[in-house]
Amino acid sequence: MKPQNMSASGGKIIIANWKMNLTIKKSLEFIKKVKPGKNKVVIAAPYTFLCELSKQLQKKKIKLAAQDVAQFEEGAYTGEVSAEMLRRIKCSYCLVGHSERRIYFKETDKVINQKVKQLLDEKIKVVICIGETDQERNKGLTKRVLKKQLTLALKGIREINNILVAYEPVWAISTFQKGKSKRSAEIQDIIEAHLYIKKVLRNLYGGKAMKIKVLYGGTVKPQNSREILSLKEVDGALVGGASLKVSSFNAILKSI
Ligand code: PGA
Repeated sequence: MKPQNMSASGGKIIIANWKMNLTIKKSLEFIKKVKPGKNKVVIAAPYTFLCELSKQLQKKKIKLAAQDVAQFEEGAYTGEVSAEMLRRIKCSYCLVGHSERRIYFKETDKVINQKVKQLLDEKIKVVICIGETDQERNKGLTKRVLKKQLTLALKGIREINNILVAYEPVWAISTFQKGKSKRSAEIQDIIEAHLYIKKVLRNLYGGKAMKIKVLYGGTVKPQNSREILSLKEVDGALVGGASLKVSSFNAILKSI
């Protein structure tokens, strides 16, 4: 299938979400081999990889992301990493509110909102992850969940230059599909959700909301990336499992 329409600004943003995988050595080999093509590539790596990757990425087009951040500015918060610490090592993006954090670590919309604010204060681009569970979808609650998660994550936020949204239906994320053959969302579901998210953003921010990129995540792989990423409603992808091997990640980048 030929790409129908690129997003208004041209390229797509493809974010690799490595989660708690790989090693520093493997990550360095990976970035040497990535071929972004005309895409903007961001790597969301585990904390301990960030310093070394940051040094290596200075000369490359690839940007660095953290997978999480503390909701507090500084102080006695054992185990946490602040937004300022990320900014100081030139980490220019951060994921917030990934469903694995919401589900396994009981992260609430309020905490997510605090994290967004910490990151924006440090001028770090925030990728707000939202998405409904299987049960919520089956009960017809998808739009309600998306609106609630988005509105609460953005509560009190006026400046949207550094905001991105990732629509990740929980049931389509490969992590939550153990034992089954992994499936992405249907194209029609992706279009509907993205249009709805853009509508909610427009209601919150008016015309300037058009600047907010909305990415899709959930079993994006070389076999479906072309179809998903050629949708004009989809400004990019957040890729988990298929970003762990540089060959499949490059195949996704090449498919656009
Ligand atoms: P997946 O993960 O591509 O393995 O489904 C996406 C994500 O969790 O961000």
